[in-house]
Amino acid sequence: MEQVRLGIIGYGQQGGFYGDLISQGRVDKMVVGAVAEIDESKDALINERHPDAKIYRDYKEMVESGDVDAVLTAVPHFLHPEMAMYALSKGIHVLNEKPAGVYTKQVKELNEYAANSDAVYAIMFNQRNNPLYQRIKEIVDNGEIGNIRRTNWIITNWWRPQAYYDMSAWRATWGGEGGGVLVNQAPHQLDLIQWIAGVPEKVTGKVKYGYQRDIVVEDEVTALLDYGNGATGVFVTCTHDMIGTDRLEILGDAGKIVVEDSKKVKVIRMKKSENQFNQEMDFEGVKDLFMGKLDVDELYEVEEFESESAWGEQHGGVLANFAAHIIDGTPLLAPGAEGINGVRLANAIHLSDWEGKEIDLSTFDDDKYLEGLNKRIAEEGKYEQRS
Ligand SMILES: NC(=O)c1ccc[n+]([C@@H]2O[C@H](COP(=O)([O-])OP(=O)(O)OC[C@H]3O[C@@H](n4cnc5c(N)ncnc54)[C@H](O)[C@@H]3O)[C@@H](O)[C@H]2O)c1
Repeated sequence: MEQVRLGIIGYGQQGGFYGDLISQGRVDKMVVGAVAEIDESKDALINERHPDAKIYRDYKEMVESGDVDAVLTAVPHFLHPEMAMYALSKGIHVLNEKPAGVYTKQVKELNEYAANSDAVYAIMFNQRNNPLYQRIKEIVDNGEIGNIRRTNWIITNWWRPQAYYDMSAWRATWGGEGGGVLVNQAPHQLDLIQWIAGVPEKVTGKVKYGYQRDIVVEDEVTALLDYGNGATGVFVTCTHDMIGTDRLEILGDAGKIVVEDSKKVKVIRMKKSENQFNQEMDFEGVKDLFMGKLDVDELYEVEEFESESAWGEQHGGVLANFAAHIIDGTPLLAPGAEGINGVRLANAIHLSDWEGKEIDLSTFDDDKYLEGLNKRIAEEGKYEQRS
């Protein structure tokens, strides 16, 4: 195979963006083979951009048509797992849009399916393709800041006005979207924090639903992460902070990483571990400390750099990596099976808030979460409950 013929399922905001990138020839070894879209009003745009691609109303027909080698699921979240499983069952490769699904029970089933399929299963975690986060992961993995003691991510620059929520009926509903900021905007950071700093053992969530918007799902979240080895973390996100902050801090016992706005990075490497400094410091040293006389150059080195990654390049890179993996086995940037980590963390934050207690991720109760989700879907009264 020289080129992967992609079938885009859902030609809305995101599917249209991918279609545009590919039609401009900005994705190596990928062409649009067909599009599955239920909304006829998108036909004119699809025909204009992809004159050779057939439009299907039923994605299953497209999967079985022979027109596509792979599909991408740019549709509302609940549909990701079922469409991915269907395509995999027919030997068609899948690039699942994030999140992998809405609830862990559904995503576990998908992962089992993918593990037993010869077709490729990947996920659109485009921020893993940001060189900045790749570099930070490398620094942490190399032990350059020592063992992690604390993580902090305040990611509140997901400001969304009411008009955004009113744009499509499925948005900001339990039954249509499956949640709010944790399910739609923050999955990128929920993935990155675990990709870089490891999967937490336990989580406690304090969540507000419809706090500053007329929606039933969450627009304000504070979560406490417990890594089980003494390290802790705080994850804060919301959609009502118009000024917005994006600040990631990772404190290790031999340094610290600070990332501002996903582009300005400060890496502080200590010349000895904090424990060693602590053990060696005598009374004279404490006096110097209080007098502000410690020579920081003797303590640590600071590296600062800026790295900007254009949004389109991130997604285009994931698409090209997916094609390269199918064609020549290039390692995947984001294997699909890893999508469950972010879904489990988001589910656990909800569940912790609903039950008012800390949740152990290693014994996460998939059924209990689904029960809580279904209760909210029933109260909303617009969609059918899930199984
Ligand atoms: N990776 C990213 O950076 C990123 C950014 C934004 C959105 N997303 C994700 O993309 C997905 C789509 O979001 P969006 O903003 O494009 O939504 P959207 O509402 O603009 O588009 C969804 C499209 O899917 C179509 N659709 C719905 N059901 C379908 C079906 N059964 N078969 C075929 N088409 C169907 C709709 O008609 C619509 O055109 C979501 O999962 C969202 O989380 C990802």
